[in-house]
This record gives sequence, C-alpha cells and structure tokens, in this order.
Amino acid sequence: MSRFRSSAVLAFGAVLLAGCGERPADGAPRAASGGATPVVSSADRAEARQLFDTLCSTCHGNNGHGDGPASAGLEPKPRSFADRQWQASVDDAHIRTVITLGGAAVGKSPNMPPQPQLKSRPGVVQGLAEIIRAQGR
Ligand code: HEC
Repeated sequence: MSRFRSSAVLAFGAVLLAGCGERPADGAPRAASGGATPVVSSADRAEARQLFDTLCSTCHGNNGHGDGPASAGLEPKPRSFADRQWQASVDDAHIRTVITLGGAAVGKSPNMPPQPQLKSRPGVVQGLAEIIRAQGR
C-alpha cells in the first residue's frame, strides 16, 4: 500500500513537472512561438525531400551549404545550414515560420521566399526542418 502511495506521489510530481515544461521561463504560452512540434508522416517526409531537392536547393544547395545555382546574385547569401552556430541560435518553430512566411517576416532578406501553400501542411514543413537540422550535423 505504501508502495502504491509513493509511486502515485511520484506520478503526480511528474505531471506537475511536465506541466511546467509547457511554458517557457517568461510565462508566455508556447503556442506564441509556434506550438508543439508537428507530427511528420513518411509521406510528409518524402514530400519535404522532393521540395527541398527541387526548390530550396536552387538557393541553399543540395547539401544546404548556401551555394545553390540561384545563390550567385543574392546578397545576403542563402543561409548555410552547415553553420552550427546558426543551428544553435534558432528553434524549429522559427525555422517553420521562415519557411511558411518567408525571410521578411522574421527580419531577414525578402529573397528567402514564403511558401503560404504549406501553412496547411505542418508535417511537410517540419519535414523540411528535419532536413535542415540533418545538414547541420
Ligand atoms: C530564391 C532563393 C531561396 C529559395 C528558393 C529558398 N531560400 Fe531560404 N534563404 C534564402 C536567403 C537569401 C536566405 C538568407 C536570408 C538572410 O539571412 O537575410 C535564406 C534563409 C533561410 C533560412 C534561415 C532563416 C534565418 O532566420 O536565419 C531558412 C531556415 C531557409 N532559408 C529555409 C528554406 C527552405 C526550407 C526553402 C525551401 C522551401 C528555402 N529556404 C528556399 C534564399 C532562398
């Protein structure tokens, strides 16, 4: 019985801790920074890969080094996703925002184009974020 009690107390504590994790230190609801990480299905992942290879890579390069064929005339250059300092400075919610709303929406170059058609495809957007993260490893 006392065993059951202490595990119940532990479980309750874990729920409290998990609850705390829902909010960043400043107390703002996490939804403000993009919400929970969207689920990525294997179809989303395949679509994200195709989109990266046909669209994003024209500027960011096949391996995300910022050296795609369309990068030549651009200033600032497309972000190199291999830059670990940059990787550490952004969260996935930021990456998702840049992809759907474009560079201008986050104070970056308007040459980074928005993809408004992806607003209803959070799994595909997160799939792109996964590709970007993998290129920073
Ligand atoms: C026409 C060229 C072009 C295409 C196509 C393009 N980008 Fe970009 N992207 C840029 C440029 C230029 C920047 C740098 C903006 C800056 O630093 O001001 C950038 C920056 C970014 C950033 C970093 C933003 C930040 O806050 O530092 C991400 C993430 C990104 N692009 C993702 C993508 C993805 C994913 C795609 C494909 C869906 C894509 N881009 C397609 C040009 C492009």
